Amino acid sequence: MSIIVNEERRIFLLQTLHNSYAFGVDDQGLLRHLYWGNKIDAIDDFEMPVLAEVSTNDPVFEITREEFPVYGRLRYKEHCLKVTFADGCREVDYVYENYKIENHKDYDELIITLKDSHYDLYITLHYKVYGDFDLMERSVTLRNASQENMAIEQLQSAQFHIPYENLNFSNVHGHWGAEQQRFVQKVSYGKVVIENRRGISSHNHNPYFILDRDASETQGEVYFGALRRSGNFSGVVEQTPYGETLVQMGLNDHDFCYNLAPGEEFSAPAIICGYTNQGFETMSHHLHHFAQAFILDNDIRPVLYNSWEATGFGVTCEEQLKLAKKAKELGAELFVVDDGWFGERNGIKNGLGDWYVNKQKFPHGIDELIDEVKSLGMMFGIWVEPEMVNPPTKLYKEHPDWIYHFANRVSDTSREQYVLDMTREDVQQFVYQMLDDLLTSHDIDYIKWDANRPISQSNLDRSVWYKHIEAVYDIVKALKKKHPHVLFEACASGGGRIDYGILGIFDDFWTSDNTDACDRLTIQDSYSYIYPIKAMRAWVTDCPNFISNRDIPMRYRFHSAMMGTLGIGCNILKFSDEETKLAQEMIALYKEIRPIVQEGDFYRLENLSEDDYRSYEYLKDTKGLLFVFLSHTRIGHRPLTLKLRGLKKDTRYKLTYGDQEIHKSGAYLMERGIDLRLSGDYASELIFISEM
Ligand code: GLA
Repeated sequence: MSIIVNEERRIFLLQTLHNSYAFGVDDQGLLRHLYWGNKIDAIDDFEMPVLAEVSTNDPVFEITREEFPVYGRLRYKEHCLKVTFADGCREVDYVYENYKIENHKDYDELIITLKDSHYDLYITLHYKVYGDFDLMERSVTLRNASQENMAIEQLQSAQFHIPYENLNFSNVHGHWGAEQQRFVQKVSYGKVVIENRRGISSHNHNPYFILDRDASETQGEVYFGALRRSGNFSGVVEQTPYGETLVQMGLNDHDFCYNLAPGEEFSAPAIICGYTNQGFETMSHHLHHFAQAFILDNDIRPVLYNSWEATGFGVTCEEQLKLAKKAKELGAELFVVDDGWFGERNGIKNGLGDWYVNKQKFPHGIDELIDEVKSLGMMFGIWVEPEMVNPPTKLYKEHPDWIYHFANRVSDTSREQYVLDMTREDVQQFVYQMLDDLLTSHDIDYIKWDANRPISQSNLDRSVWYKHIEAVYDIVKALKKKHPHVLFEACASGGGRIDYGILGIFDDFWTSDNTDACDRLTIQDSYSYIYPIKAMRAWVTDCPNFISNRDIPMRYRFHSAMMGTLGIGCNILKFSDEETKLAQEMIALYKEIRPIVQEGDFYRLENLSEDDYRSYEYLKDTKGLLFVFLSHTRIGHRPLTLKLRGLKKDTRYKLTYGDQEIHKSGAYLMERGIDLRLSGDYASELIFISEM
């Protein structure tokens, strides 16, 4: 049983395989947090601390570990909920009402209902316990049971209490072409805030938290949570003067207000959260396993070819046909036409919104290309940017009021485009219809959905930040219902829409426009902390790379991209015979190993060398892989001792690469490790592991 209740003392204990989470209701009806950490079975050992004021300047609400602090009374700390009622009262004062437990196939759920002591506002806290995954999913639902409106000004998905100071907080920073740059900083007094205010997406921070006590990959305490939401979010980490660290994550209250009408419900996004005392690797495995089990489908992802870096906007049917033939020859399984196929799209200035096939580029329609791709036995995919419109288009001329705007302000363009007001039903209908028509009238298997600018001049309703994303989710859900075989890739100027909100509705992420194979290793490494490898699209592209200007051998570029879901973005028509042969070999090899890459357990191996080696391991059933990279050989270069992880101690393994074959026990490989020496610049090796 994963949810244990002591009715008499009103204490709730949530149990996963290795962990416990406890909270209770005190004699004043306040929800008090009691524990989060390693497993404790005896619920009766938990005690409800008595509320005692230390001084008038340290009100009990400040010191008390509240499970769901609201704005109101003597509370000055960060709160999870702020509501303005119709009479102008801006404080919530809740009391505990009841609890309910629901048993579902995959999880048990504890539902706690609170109610405002005066107004008919109900707050339900949801705790879904995924015992075998050592994870919980928390969320909050508000219900207005009164006859009057209530203005929700802030709603966080959860508050977490971590009973330590001086923790390390990690997340990612970044920008276009430099997504997922992991940073770690000490938490001290004061607050650490990460957020997104852009409405669409952000490369700057990602909606998750990781707090650790000097953990490594394999040891140490780690508390973590990942929000299931795209667009605006905020996360606040605060080390309080009272000896603990608080974390809150949920909807960003910046310029936010949601009018909760009588009878209406409104939910904060769910947050998947967990604890481990086994370091970052276990954290990643829990999240990856959860994603595999409940978010991603079971299909192995196809090898993709995308023409963007080869042709830019200069798409022509003739050239696409040639690219498709060559892509097939190389072994690609999915051919994707990127930007430039529609409207008067010859650059960024025009086209978005006019989603008809461009006649000059495809004189006989796009089916000429699709039919050819299909006759070659490949799937067909296409790029769209449905939330946007360019000013010169027919769509904008006919519906200038469809963009986000204020009556007396000029709407800003960015990348020469406006954002459509997705909160309008007519706009939602237009976007849905356009995509439904596209998918109905053409044999399309894959949509790359892009979003290349943030929202500005939002509109009068301050719930736009929430509703815009809801509309995107709803449209894709409806499209998938009608066209269940179609895969959706989430892209926003590269990796701007990587989050657990979009995943599950979409199928994979475009990870970054930065396709430099070395830079990608950094991006992929950080990505892997939270997100599953299967959803990580990675392309091999031409050199010198358009961002880094760096020349990297094709073998290294392939190895880097084969660590995720492989794609090719080169101008393959320019490939030499030698490049064609190598690409064919690597793609064929990827097809053999991809179940291990896409669905195996992933390990970020420790670099025990002074040189900048990077090594990664994947394990699935009796097989595994090691990818090892060395970007530059340094003076005094020594071999790398590579200690493997996750093997069975007493099983014997065979490791093969090049003409080398090594037979060792799991214990030897994990404890002593093997010595490997790569040399030169951009050296890489792929080593195969199998149980003997
Ligand atoms: C964004 C995407 C790219 C490409 C272009 C097309 O930048 O990240 O992959 O699709 O748009 O305009």
